[in-house]
Amino acid sequence: MSVDEDRWVKAVDLEDLWEGELMPVTVDGEELIVVHLEGGHISAFLSSCPHQGTSLAEGYLEEDKLVCPAHLWEFDARSGAGVNPDNTCLAQRQVRIEDDVVWIGRSAGEAVGHSSTRSNG
Ligand code: FES
Repeated sequence: MSVDEDRWVKAVDLEDLWEGELMPVTVDGEELIVVHLEGGHISAFLSSCPHQGTSLAEGYLEEDKLVCPAHLWEFDARSGAGVNPDNTCLAQRQVRIEDDVVWIGRSAGEAVGHSSTRSNG
């Protein structure tokens, strides 16, 4: 029930992030995006595009792909893996859903490869 706020930061209420949308958030001074895919999967990534650093907060979703607005690089919006090109990836942050709130794992300076699908709580 309770969330360890030494490890997790409240990012956004689920009711404010509809399926098919992404939202910029700041966690511990880092600019991130939280992505809510159709079907309920939620992921969080550093917002800086690995190509030239454009903010992915201005990007958009095409089904399960996240597209950078600058030069249209595409990423798997679940894993962050590059789709086009495929030799890159986004830095992912841990996600936890608790009481209809999206919590983001504090980075401790490292990206991690884990994300979450919304469950019944
Ligand atoms: S900066 Fe994102 S594709 Fe170029």
